[in-house]
Amino acid sequence: MPIWWYVAPTIINAFLEQYDLSGKTLIPFATSGGSGIGRTNERLQPSCPKSNLLQGKTLNGRLSESELKKWLNELHIDK
Ligand SMILES: Cc1cc2nc3c(=O)[nH]c(=O)nc-3n(C[C@H](O)[C@H](O)[C@H](O)COP(=O)(O)O)c2cc1C
Repeated sequence: MPIWWYVAPTIINAFLEQYDLSGKTLIPFATSGGSGIGRTNERLQPSCPKSNLLQGKTLNGRLSESELKKWLNELHIDK
């Protein structure tokens, strides 16, 4: 998803609301013009109230492999 004004665009909320994502773990990742992922989770959580929404990240191509691995390790998910 892209970041628009420091959050995910509303179409992402609409997408989440169309599916039963209860009990699912969601990991947002985004492109942006340069800012971080901002208040994305705060705005997405009400659209997937029963999901485990983890801390996302902008993957803008400036991320090194070690930074990417660090993020994945912090998420505690199976890779
Ligand atoms: C309405 C609008 C708002 C945007 N707001 C932000 C923003 O707050 N921060 C940011 O870094 N990029 C922002 N962008 C840039 C988009 O995140 C970027 O275009 C998107 O990630 C897609 O990347 P691309 O244009 O290189 O394909 C915005 C773009 C649009 C169209």
